[in-house]
Amino acid sequence: MTSRRIGVFVSGTGRHLDNLARIASAGEMDFEIGLVVSNKAGILALERARRRGLETLVLDPERELDTAAFSHAAFEAVEEAGCDTVVLAGFLRRLAIPQRWAGRVLNIHPALLPAFGGKGYYGDKVHAAVLERGCQFTGCSVHYVDDEYDHGPILLQRCIEVRANDTVRTLADRVFAEEELALPAALAQHFERTAAS
Ligand code: GAR
Repeated sequence: MTSRRIGVFVSGTGRHLDNLARIASAGEMDFEIGLVVSNKAGILALERARRRGLETLVLDPERELDTAAFSHAAFEAVEEAGCDTVVLAGFLRRLAIPQRWAGRVLNIHPALLPAFGGKGYYGDKVHAAVLERGCQFTGCSVHYVDDEYDHGPILLQRCIEVRANDTVRTLADRVFAEEELALPAALAQHFERTAAS
């Protein structure tokens, strides 16, 4: 069986990118990263990508393109790189998913969607809102992406308890540990589901 090729879209520190690259190069799963697309220049995720020897593309860091034009360019680039799946790994720009990519773009979000999702909910802001609201449980979600932020069918969630003495930092760290399990597991599910297509 031929291995799958994925594109990874990043805007931040790239811990998920690094984890996926490690899993692929260790042969723990049968895929390779064909292209890393960033909407920002000079971010740690790009540095990590280069250290791993991955192809990178910085697209529209000055934000001159509208959502449609940005998305068109981004998906054309991953197609040219031979990718059949895209993972949004801390990617913080809205996309218009081309019809042919529906059901092939995954996102990881650090909350139990549909709670604490949507515009403005990313990274530590999510955990601060969870603590502020007094939630007893939180976690992470991997879902297929549509044209709305943090929307679209959920593939996999992992849940943890919020502790009375949790801070944004401690909660973020425990949720991220779950994210590192959730994203590869969801990707494996997706590969299985789309194996023949
Ligand atoms: C992750 O915690 C991910 O769940 C979150 O950004 C972080 C990216 O970390 N994504 C969102 O908040 C999307 N709404 P990384 O850049 O180190 O992989």
